[in-house]
Amino acid sequence: MISRRTFIKGACGYVLGVMSVGSYSCLLEPRWIEIKNVFINIRALPERFEGMRIAQLSDIHHCKYVPREFIKKCVRKVNALSPDIIALTGDFVYGSKEFLSSVAEELSELKAKEGVFAVLGNHDNKDVTADTLAKRGIRVLINEHVPLYRKKDYLFIAGVDDLWAGKLNLETTLKGVDSKPKILLCHNPDAIERIKHTGIDFVMAGHTHGGQVCLPLYGPPIVYSKFGTRYASGLFHEERTIMYVNKGIGVSNFPVRFFARPEITLFTLQNSLQSV
Ligand SMILES: [Fe+2]
Repeated sequence: MISRRTFIKGACGYVLGVMSVGSYSCLLEPRWIEIKNVFINIRALPERFEGMRIAQLSDIHHCKYVPREFIKKCVRKVNALSPDIIALTGDFVYGSKEFLSSVAEELSELKAKEGVFAVLGNHDNKDVTADTLAKRGIRVLINEHVPLYRKKDYLFIAGVDDLWAGKLNLETTLKGVDSKPKILLCHNPDAIERIKHTGIDFVMAGHTHGGQVCLPLYGPPIVYSKFGTRYASGLFHEERTIMYVNKGIGVSNFPVRFFARPEITLFTLQNSLQSV
C-alpha cells in the first residue's frame, strides 16, 4: 500500500507533467519554426534551372491563435532564404474571413526573384481569397499553368483548385503544356492519386499539418486524409511524380502542435541525371 506522501508526490508529478506537455504544445511548439532543406531531382531539368530554389509556406490559417506577428516572422524567414520562387499552398485563414486582408498584407512582403505563386485550400473562399491575394501581387493559380523562362529555357508552374472545396481539374490545368518539367502546387495531397498519371514531375502540397499532434511511437492519431497517415508529411515518390507534403505553419481545430513543428521548406531543384 502506498503512503499518503508517495501518493501526493506522484499526483504532483503527474499534474506537472500534464501542465508541461500542455504549455509546450500550446505555447512553445506552435511558434517553433523548422526550416527544412530538400533536394528535388527532376528529369531533363534545363541547365539554367539547375539549383533553382523554391520556398514553400502552407496552411497559415491566420486567426486569433496564429497572430499577425507570427506570420510576419515567417515572411522574414522566407525572405532570408533568398528564394527564386515562393509557393503558397493554401488555407490562408481559419474561420472568420476578417483575417484575410491582414494575412494578404503580410504576404505582400514576400520577396522572390521570379514570383510568388499560390493555390487555395479548403478553408479559402475561391473568389474573395484569390482576388485579395492577386491585389497583393501574388499569382493565384486555379486549374492553370504559367511557363517560367530563363532565357530560352523554360518549365511550367501549375496550380490546381482544391480537391475538397473546389473543382480540381488536371486536364484544364495542363492544357497546352509540352514535355518540359512541370511543377504543381496542390493543397491536398490526396490528389496524388490522380496527379501521378499526368506526367507532373514535382508536387508541393500541405493540408495535413503533419497531423498537428504526433504521438511518440504512434504517429499522428488524426490526419484529414482518406489515406490515413500515409501522406501526413514529407517526401513521397508515386510513379514518376515526387510529392512533398509540408506541415504548414498554422493550426486548425485545436490550437496545439506536438511533435509536428511549423515548417518552412526550401527546395533546391537538380537534374536527376547529374545527381545520380
Ligand atoms: Fe490547413
